[in-house]
Amino acid sequence: MGNQLMAAATGGAPTPSMFAPVSTPAFAIRELSFLVFAITTLIFIVVAGVTVYAIIRYRRGPGDDGSEPPQVYGSTQIELAWTVVPFLIVIVLFLTTTRYIFAIEERPPTPNAVEVAIVGNQWWWEIRYPRLGIVTANELHVPVSDPASPTPTVITLQSADVIHSFWIPQLAGKTDVVPGKTNRTWIDPLTPGTYVGQCAEFCGLQHAGMLLVVTVHPKDEFARWVAEQQSLAAEVPGARAGRDLFGSLACINCHTVRGTPANGVFGPDLTHLMSRMTLGAGMARNTPENLRAWVQDPASLKPGALMPAMKVSGDQLDQLVAYLVTLR
Ligand code: CUA
Repeated sequence: MGNQLMAAATGGAPTPSMFAPVSTPAFAIRELSFLVFAITTLIFIVVAGVTVYAIIRYRRGPGDDGSEPPQVYGSTQIELAWTVVPFLIVIVLFLTTTRYIFAIEERPPTPNAVEVAIVGNQWWWEIRYPRLGIVTANELHVPVSDPASPTPTVITLQSADVIHSFWIPQLAGKTDVVPGKTNRTWIDPLTPGTYVGQCAEFCGLQHAGMLLVVTVHPKDEFARWVAEQQSLAAEVPGARAGRDLFGSLACINCHTVRGTPANGVFGPDLTHLMSRMTLGAGMARNTPENLRAWVQDPASLKPGALMPAMKVSGDQLDQLVAYLVTLR
């Protein structure tokens, strides 16, 4: 469901393909996979060809007396050949892969780089922009990187609980997200658009419910997004009842709404909740109806979600949802 929803939400390709890269690390990975694919195809053709030849050429003939053919033992030449040739192939693959890994890892950060700190959680992604003062979740927004004046995005990855893996096939390779460790990756998307990613390391019940969407904006559009996200939460007079209710419930222990007393950090920042396309890291489209179902019982949309059912109903639930939808 998640992937279809993402495809619908993003209007993009249903399956993100590593063969359609738009960012330097992903281009490098595709290049390397073509090389590996060429070498392994060649090996396959040789092995399959020799096998088929042997099957046909040496099949039992009409005058075959059933005796054993000549056996070859201890041929240094043959043994050397089938040891040295595979060894050389492995060396070539190893050295090329290493060269690509270093080329991706050792790229010096550009002064214009956008810095993002992402924290993997069971089962959602916290996304922080420390220099911009923005906190959001599950949907990463970055500027397009024009090769003439590159604005790559440098990402540090940390985990709040178990091992996750950050993977957006069209932008970069997988990077493990390990508790107690800070890993780094970077992307420099050359084409605006929406790219879908997914946690790529089994991390529990909702491993498959940990989607990521990266929206690559033209530069002015990104600046607008930043300005919107930097603003404090909207204060709509009509939503006062819901806001007071929100502040009186356990919601504020886990969620932050900037500009209000809510400053919890266990769950996603809700300051601009409605600017996000989906709920529960891609589990449902972010509509008032789904939001209502989510607040009433998150497990109805995402079994295992760590947010408890809020045990509110009727008018109170209406008020809460009426408030949440003002957080644009
Ligand atoms: Cu997080 Cu799988």
